[in-house]
Amino acid sequence: MKNLKIKKIKNKKKTNKLVCLTAYSKSISRILDNFCDIILVGDSLANTLYAMKNTHGVGLNTMIEHGRSVRQGVKKSLLVIDMPKGSYDNLSKAKKNAKLIMRKTKCDAVKIEHNKNNYKIVKGLVSANINVMGHIGFTPQFKKKFKVEGKTKKQKIQLINQALDIEKAGAFSIVLECVDASLAKKITKILKIPTIGIGSSNNCDGQILVTDDLLGLSGFYPRFVKRYANLNKVIEKAVSNFKKEVQLEKFPKIKNSY
Ligand code: KIV
Repeated sequence: MKNLKIKKIKNKKKTNKLVCLTAYSKSISRILDNFCDIILVGDSLANTLYAMKNTHGVGLNTMIEHGRSVRQGVKKSLLVIDMPKGSYDNLSKAKKNAKLIMRKTKCDAVKIEHNKNNYKIVKGLVSANINVMGHIGFTPQFKKKFKVEGKTKKQKIQLINQALDIEKAGAFSIVLECVDASLAKKITKILKIPTIGIGSSNNCDGQILVTDDLLGLSGFYPRFVKRYANLNKVIEKAVSNFKKEVQLEKFPKIKNSY
């Protein structure tokens, strides 16, 4: 069943654009599930929910607890969970932690960010029947400063080789984060597995955004984010109405009381 879902995602490379979003809780994942191919419990929750300055401090248990919540809202989409920094330093650690994530959350796959030569880790996880999504370009777990990746000839060659090696290691798809548009096009053409872009142009096989950014909740709106709603405003209005009605003793009414 799980591999059927993976096959479906891989096959969409030829037919449809893949729709992917992040979720950190059931309340959001149950809505996204009707629209998404892939739902990612991203370690971006470190910045978005926990106000950390980067993703480095988020632990395995935090990812598992959010994964368990998200799982409850997901029936159709492929559920992927980010392995946090430090949880896949070597193969035995990666296998132990990926299995724990899979067992506790019943997710379909894990995502790991590319760092030097961790193809062996991707390969080892895939051999252990764990589905892996790769992630190259701007990889927040390993890069200190934001920059668009793949602008120079040397970087282009490096990124193409990374993508090919990750595919060869058995990943079922790969996130391209903030990769130069023409390079994203080239990688997407070369690879057999789907590329999922964030800040990497519409040349990719699919797109992912952090849902809190898309909804206008996070306050983080770089160039690659489009705000499809302004939930900050919606929440402000609701809370201000609540405040007014409490102070005027208009809420709760008899119908809200026992
Ligand atoms: O952590 C995350 O949310 C991610 C996506 C932005 C791809 O890795």
